[in-house]
Amino acid sequence: MENQNMLSRFVHDMPKAELHVHLEGAIQPGTVLELARRHNMQDTLPAGDLEGLKRWYAFTDFDHFLEVYLVIQDLIRTSEDFALIAYELGADMAAQNIRYREATVTPFTHTDYLQKNMTITDILEGLETGRQRAKEEFGVEIRWVFDCPRQLSFRNEDQHYDRYPAERTLEYALLGRDRGVVGFGLGGNEVGAPPHPFAHAFSAAKEAGLLCVPHAGEVDGAVSVWGALNELQADRIGHGVRAIEDPELLAVLKARRIPLEVNPTSNICLHVYRSLGEHPFPHLDRMGLLVTVNSDDPPLFNTTLSQEYEAIANTFGYGKKDLARIARNAFTACGAEEPVKTRLLAEFDTWAAEALETPL
Ligand code: ADE
Ligand code: ZN
Repeated sequence: MENQNMLSRFVHDMPKAELHVHLEGAIQPGTVLELARRHNMQDTLPAGDLEGLKRWYAFTDFDHFLEVYLVIQDLIRTSEDFALIAYELGADMAAQNIRYREATVTPFTHTDYLQKNMTITDILEGLETGRQRAKEEFGVEIRWVFDCPRQLSFRNEDQHYDRYPAERTLEYALLGRDRGVVGFGLGGNEVGAPPHPFAHAFSAAKEAGLLCVPHAGEVDGAVSVWGALNELQADRIGHGVRAIEDPELLAVLKARRIPLEVNPTSNICLHVYRSLGEHPFPHLDRMGLLVTVNSDDPPLFNTTLSQEYEAIANTFGYGKKDLARIARNAFTACGAEEPVKTRLLAEFDTWAAEALETPL
């Protein structure tokens, strides 16, 4: 117990960066209820209290998760709503000592798919208001990844695909570059949604200086990660854990130092692995891949970034030195501007030099 307390304190005090967390998936249950009240949409939720919402967050499969996710996304209706959830993302960073977060937002779902009369101007203004307020109040750095929902580009009946969601998302990301957008992503269900309709947009994103950070190797296997590398020019891979199924792919990821944004508890909740003990995290790490620890959609998986670090320590036997080494990977792989990145790394290294003197 004493050790557990020491571990919790160490993880809390460690300056952290998080590269894979979804803004809409990070809304706390109390705020989900508040948004539903604001917009008189309580009837779209299956429960009116926190316990009921937590019971709702039990996912039978990946598509069930996406259904719940869409209900939550539909509750965000105004620029003020975006400002609130962005600010709360920053408040949570302060509570956990997360110094930098690259949070994914899916603007196309709000502006087009859900048909709720939101514009990209509403979204960008709200995000910027919340981000700046969090920076002023807590000193935390937030950057955005705008991602495209991949399943919305496919019609299952006839394999028809549509480049519009990707192109629209890219247009939004380019507009947001002066307000913290640093990356271009691809989310949703990989199965039945190969990468080629998105290749053109990813190529243009890269040319414009955005990081290319698609999800791959989560629901689908190694072939999806190959697609992310070869067709989407991925700079990092969202998840990527199923690369473990292909030694040749592991060698390429290692040689090219492509970071993996690993989300251990998410992978259990969405049935990628049966238990943390079966998770490939320590193998990927031991093989020399640049692994990072992330929480994906923390309240939906009843977790926090700190709990993710504690979980890998408890399950895989990592001590302080390993945790710090892994945590540092996220700072080195982040998409912040060079001066910010250099400052964050220097702060981390100063903390580590002092904190690592005593063994766990
Ligand atoms: N959107 C939110 N969470 C996601 C995940 N784990 N995989 C793909 N898309 C997502
Ligand atoms: Zn994700």
